[in-house]
Amino acid sequence: MTQLKIGQVGLGRLGRIHAQNLSKYIMNAELFAVTSIVPEELDYAKNELGVKHCYTSYTEMINNDELDAVIIVSPSGFHTVQISQALKKGLHVFSEKPIGIDLTTINDLLSELDNHPNTVFQLGFMRRFDDSYLYAKEVIERGDLGEITSMRCYGIDPSEGLPSFINFAKNSASGGIFLDMSIHDIDLVRWFTESEFSTVYALGNSLAAPQLADYNELETGACLATLENGVIVYLLAGRNANHGYHVETEIIGTKGMIRIGNAPEKNLVTVYDDNGVIRPTSTHFPERFKIAFINELSTFVNSIINNEKPTITGNDGLKSTEAAIAMQESFEKNEVVKLAGARI
Ligand code: NAI
Repeated sequence: MTQLKIGQVGLGRLGRIHAQNLSKYIMNAELFAVTSIVPEELDYAKNELGVKHCYTSYTEMINNDELDAVIIVSPSGFHTVQISQALKKGLHVFSEKPIGIDLTTINDLLSELDNHPNTVFQLGFMRRFDDSYLYAKEVIERGDLGEITSMRCYGIDPSEGLPSFINFAKNSASGGIFLDMSIHDIDLVRWFTESEFSTVYALGNSLAAPQLADYNELETGACLATLENGVIVYLLAGRNANHGYHVETEIIGTKGMIRIGNAPEKNLVTVYDDNGVIRPTSTHFPERFKIAFINELSTFVNSIINNEKPTITGNDGLKSTEAAIAMQESFEKNEVVKLAGARI
């Protein structure tokens, strides 16, 4: 069996999950090298996952000529530069979302990707690998909903993560709630409707965590948008769901509608006790998208081995980032923003 050698940068909140998945579940790849600036994370990779090469510098890691591919799970501001460095070394690249936080560098990167037609590049929109979202896509493609008329998307992190997010916001920029969180919903909207965002009007507040205003962050962000094909979209992102991790998507069509995750259920268990009848809730993103995270890495590795193009491209990265940046601009200016290049 082909055994790809993979180097991963970033072993934080999500990086640790990718590293574990690669080590435990992806049989035709080896987590061969890692980079982190946190010594404990490197100790973990070496001692718990048996990673052979541990680096504190990404450049040093990609100079290891044995590598076939990299997985980038560093803070969002590093993505474009690290993708570009890996391409220059002839490495295949899986990068976490967003592809970048600045449109000029993303456009430059897309030109560079065009010059590497045989390199596999995949972006981390893992919801496209979730069974429920895949089923919804199948229902839509079969025509069961007729023409899509509108979509409503909620993505709200659990309240228990709010203190650590406030701490994170103090020290580093995420790009804002639309780029950091809504981007998953933006990608789903583009994927389901096969259309692009045209106009956006975004609002936000931080009533649940007023101190976020000091760091230019929002606790809740909302957006009403139109797509080029006329579909109406309502997105809401937040960081304070008291009941757990709430990702819900509603798609309404001329012949029917579907909801995915309207109650964020943990599993099929219902508890009957002196608190009443309780459906336990999914509590965080690694739990809700456990299988999707494994499937996306498995797809990446198989695409390299079988010489296939992944379905999530650099253009998906650009278009989703354009929409998210327009939402941030709309919120800041308090006005409707038409996306540059929108066809309608
Ligand atoms: P984190 O802050 O928990 O971890 C960042 C990691 O990057 C750490 O291991 C740190 O050592 C490393 N790092 C920082 N600066 C570095 C440098 N100069 N050189 C090398 N390594 C460096 O971040 P988190 O939450 O894991 O997010 C990482 C990325 O993953 C972000 O782009 C975020 O948008 C994305 N993400 C995606 C999610 C999804 O649902 N697909 C969920 C969470 C994060």
